[in-house]
Amino acid sequence: MKIARFSRVGFILAAAGSAVGLGNIWKFPYITGENGGGAFVFVYLITVLAIGFSVMLAEMLIGYLGRRDSVTSFEELAPRHKGAWKYGGFMSVAGLLIMTFYSVVIGWIFHYIAVAAIKLPDSVPAAESAFTHMLQEGVLTQLVYHTIAFLVVTAVLVRGIKGGIERLNLILMPMLFLIVGGMFLYALNLDGFSKAWAFMFQPEWHKLTSDSFVTAVGHAFFTLSLGMGAILTYSASLPKKSSLVRSALAVVALDTGIALLAGLMLFTFLFEYGAEPSAGPGLVFISLPAVFYEMGILGNFFAVIFFIALAFAGLTSAVSLVEPMVQYMIDRFKMPRFLAAVTVGLFFYFVGIIALLSNSSEYGQMLTFGSRNFFDWIDFITASIMLPLGGLIMAIFVGHIMEKERVESILKPQFGKLFGVWYFSLRYIAPVGLVTVMLHLMGILTF
Ligand code: PFF
Repeated sequence: MKIARFSRVGFILAAAGSAVGLGNIWKFPYITGENGGGAFVFVYLITVLAIGFSVMLAEMLIGYLGRRDSVTSFEELAPRHKGAWKYGGFMSVAGLLIMTFYSVVIGWIFHYIAVAAIKLPDSVPAAESAFTHMLQEGVLTQLVYHTIAFLVVTAVLVRGIKGGIERLNLILMPMLFLIVGGMFLYALNLDGFSKAWAFMFQPEWHKLTSDSFVTAVGHAFFTLSLGMGAILTYSASLPKKSSLVRSALAVVALDTGIALLAGLMLFTFLFEYGAEPSAGPGLVFISLPAVFYEMGILGNFFAVIFFIALAFAGLTSAVSLVEPMVQYMIDRFKMPRFLAAVTVGLFFYFVGIIALLSNSSEYGQMLTFGSRNFFDWIDFITASIMLPLGGLIMAIFVGHIMEKERVESILKPQFGKLFGVWYFSLRYIAPVGLVTVMLHLMGILTF
């Protein structure tokens, strides 16, 4: 079967589009805030380089050599026990699960574009009560916007790699860079900038806990879209003779760059107007709208373009969360793309509704199991368990199972002398880091 290929720029933007998502703008600043700022950023950067980059390259290699959906690629590349290794490809299910709540959050963002344009809350408490009200009582509002997110994402997936995914990224990613870059330049001239800089880059080591390390690894995986076959599936459509090393570096650099820029910019605005840096998940939906309100009409403008940028970041990631399953259904069951995209779309749409209802006051209790509601369980199981597990399988597969000569023949010419460093960190550092994190999360290993 002939598969459509990305152009080189198309691939980098699509992979960066997958990586740069809500995680960068919504999650990174608040976990940085909660984990003490600079020290966390330091640990995070090391994690991204030692574990994130290594696994990203492994994932790209599986897709590039396998040239098919994740299950088939694993099966084809395994030198033995093909039947068992193909299950490695089933981590794509994680993407679909993440998409159930990701789509709901994209919905909130759509709603906030409207809020930003019409009426921003005039204080942090007002913003907090508006946000909580939306979560608990605004089921219909969320449903409408979740439906829009479902329709947009499914429409892009129906159009395929070239006409859908590549085109979406070619248009939205440059706009996203422009908006974040522009707002960053504005922030640069505010007094709060130096405080934000100090907060993010002056480490206060005592604020670092063992949990910070676990959070850093978990977030590195989530933000780089690793461990669930998104990068793998995109890499199956890489043009022949692409440099995987350069592409992986570009994606990691863009993703980290945007997270740092967004973090600096958000903290500048927060410090400038005296809001708390460690406001938790509500940072973007609570503190920020209140801060934008203080800026007057310029604040409305900033708030609108900020939420638009967030929506762009979310949509380009969303398509990559779902595409692996779509590709799997096309390759393995010979389904027409339209049918595959709509089936997978309807799945995340309906399960997403359950996630959405689990935050509401009416159904929340019914949909809470133990310590978490349905929404939070999916977030926890996917980001904390499935992605690191998927990454571990990939690291072991490329580092220990695939023939070294095969890996070397592709990557050594691209790496030169540094090949050995990468191979070592893939074989040993990444697995040890990932196993430690998973054991810690399951409560088996405490430190
Ligand atoms: N990297 C995205 C973010 O930072 O929001 C989330 C994500 C997208 C995770 C695609 C995994 C994935 F396969």
